[in-house]
Amino acid sequence: MADAQPFDQREGVIWFDGAFVPWADAKVHVLTHALHYASAVFEGERAYGGRIFKMREHNQRLIESARLLDFEIPYSVEEIDRACEETLARQGFVDAYVRPIAWRGSEMMGVAAQNNTIHLAIAVWQWPSYFDPAQRLKGIRLDMAQWRRPDPKTAPSKAKATGLYMICTMSKHAAERRGYADALMLDWRGQVAECTGANIFFVKDGKLHTPTPDCFLDGITRRTVIDLARKRGVDVVERAILPEELADFEQCFICGTAAEVTPVSEIAEHRFVVGDLTQALMNDYQAVVQPAEAAVAAA
Ligand SMILES: Cc1ncc(COP(=O)(O)O)c(C=O)c1O
Repeated sequence: MADAQPFDQREGVIWFDGAFVPWADAKVHVLTHALHYASAVFEGERAYGGRIFKMREHNQRLIESARLLDFEIPYSVEEIDRACEETLARQGFVDAYVRPIAWRGSEMMGVAAQNNTIHLAIAVWQWPSYFDPAQRLKGIRLDMAQWRRPDPKTAPSKAKATGLYMICTMSKHAAERRGYADALMLDWRGQVAECTGANIFFVKDGKLHTPTPDCFLDGITRRTVIDLARKRGVDVVERAILPEELADFEQCFICGTAAEVTPVSEIAEHRFVVGDLTQALMNDYQAVVQPAEAAVAAA
């Protein structure tokens, strides 16, 4: 479903290489290394009640993603944090999505790009629910993706790098064409990996099971959910999960900054219930992302 307003024609300002520019003017040239060779890394962050949840972790990961792609972002994590906060404030939102992106510029246009300027931009917009809210409550339906997460020897799988999303877009398109909300990707070995923009968890006999993140992003939301589950005294088992096991799980949910905690009702022919543990973790997540002052005010 297309958003009503194209993303290059919105209101407000974008932080672009250290200055605020009007939204419509935040442009790059067609001869930009990142556009041709996917030499770009990004983050997806969410602000709740005016505070960006785990902002430092996200911006640290941005810097590390760039290093994995062999470039250095010319700003410290403190400067990136401040720029994110200022952009959020300038946009005037309290609940919003924050998208920093860093990329190689135009000085060299071959594969090698040692002399290219590294750029950084930060855009903030309102992005309420990544999935259709009605579908989300009932649990979303997942297809099996045809594409697999690559071997870490094939791609820098720990980087939130734009190039790694090529197979995600293709998998998500194929799933949506068949009426599903998203797709579950296996990894290069044929083990369960993650969705196209979120990590996955399963529930069986009161325990949480989730794949070991050895060739995909160990999401910040994933780690938050593991902490929340352990605080509830729930065992969390990180292990290799085979697709044959899907038939044995009772509940399933996916999680990520954009997706938050979203229950799953189907994966291909397998069915899951939106059970108590999934609902409890959805609620725990909504509570933990709120700034302390807002939580006190709401209590
Ligand atoms: C492919 C992929 N996996 C997992 C995640 C979850 O990561 P996080 O919880 O840090 O947002 C995301 C979202 O950023 C993603 O795009």
